[in-house]
Amino acid sequence: MTYPAANVEGKAILITGGASGIGAASAQLLAKRGANVVIADLAVEAGEKIAQQAADEGLSITFHKVDVADKASVEALFAFTMKHLGKLDVAINNAGIDHKPAPLHELSDDDFDRNIAVNLKGVWHCMRASIPCMFANGGHVINVASVAGLRSTPLISAYGASKHGVIGLTKSAALEYAKANIRFNAVCPSFIDTPMVQNTLAHMNERQQQSIIKASPMKRLGRVEEISGAIAWLCSDESSFMNGHSLTLDGGMLA
Ligand SMILES: NC(=O)c1ccc[n+]([C@@H]2O[C@H](COP(=O)([O-])OP(=O)(O)OC[C@H]3O[C@@H](n4cnc5c(N)ncnc54)[C@H](O)[C@@H]3O)[C@@H](O)[C@H]2O)c1
Repeated sequence: MTYPAANVEGKAILITGGASGIGAASAQLLAKRGANVVIADLAVEAGEKIAQQAADEGLSITFHKVDVADKASVEALFAFTMKHLGKLDVAINNAGIDHKPAPLHELSDDDFDRNIAVNLKGVWHCMRASIPCMFANGGHVINVASVAGLRSTPLISAYGASKHGVIGLTKSAALEYAKANIRFNAVCPSFIDTPMVQNTLAHMNERQQQSIIKASPMKRLGRVEEISGAIAWLCSDESSFMNGHSLTLDGGMLA
């Protein structure tokens, strides 16, 4: 028996960090299912390429440059999105960075500040800008956190702190705006095979790389389509009673 895919047809969806990895895979899946998508990213060339490929396939993906760490840049993005899509049903706050693994006392101020600025304050900028766009019709904000927001993260403490913060913001906003029919949820992937993780693996020796695979009960990295499929379901009306939740997509790592 086959089941129909979660329906996102006609939904207006904004995805930050949409030029790569989880964001790009989500944009492509949602557009294939009939959503109108804006992807926003610092990476202009990669973002424009995805939008062009979508246009060639008759899909609706538009690129807009943003630095989520910059308040004015985020405000300009949301103004563009409202003008371009006419409404905002779902905002997916996915843009993020990691940092070079180091014990906490050796972590640089720059790494700490940048992780908080992009991963935490960037999500906060986007959450804040989403809310007025959703007062009229309700909406859904999906924050891409991480299992690093739910457990200890030795050697990537700034990244872990930023993702714990994202989950805190998600839970607070979920209660503040439930009556306004604006929902907030987080997704928490473990290691997924994206350029971010490939870059991390490239800086590790073989033993360290194997330890990452061994830490997964399923003995492999996740695939981007295993995250984008869950995100697509969250974007559909089928998730309508989920609010304030952190959805782990980790092959059982936190079980
Ligand atoms: N890949 C994983 O294993 C994994 C696991 C858990 C959570 N995550 C989270 O998923 C999200 C996506 O990660 P990914 O693995 O697809 O990484 P990725 O590096 O492939 O994509 C991240 C995108 O964010 C963009 N970006 C970075 N800083 C930005 C900024 N200031 N403004 C706008 N765009 C910016 C990058 O240009 C890039 O296109 C991140 O928030 C990451 O922390 C990833």
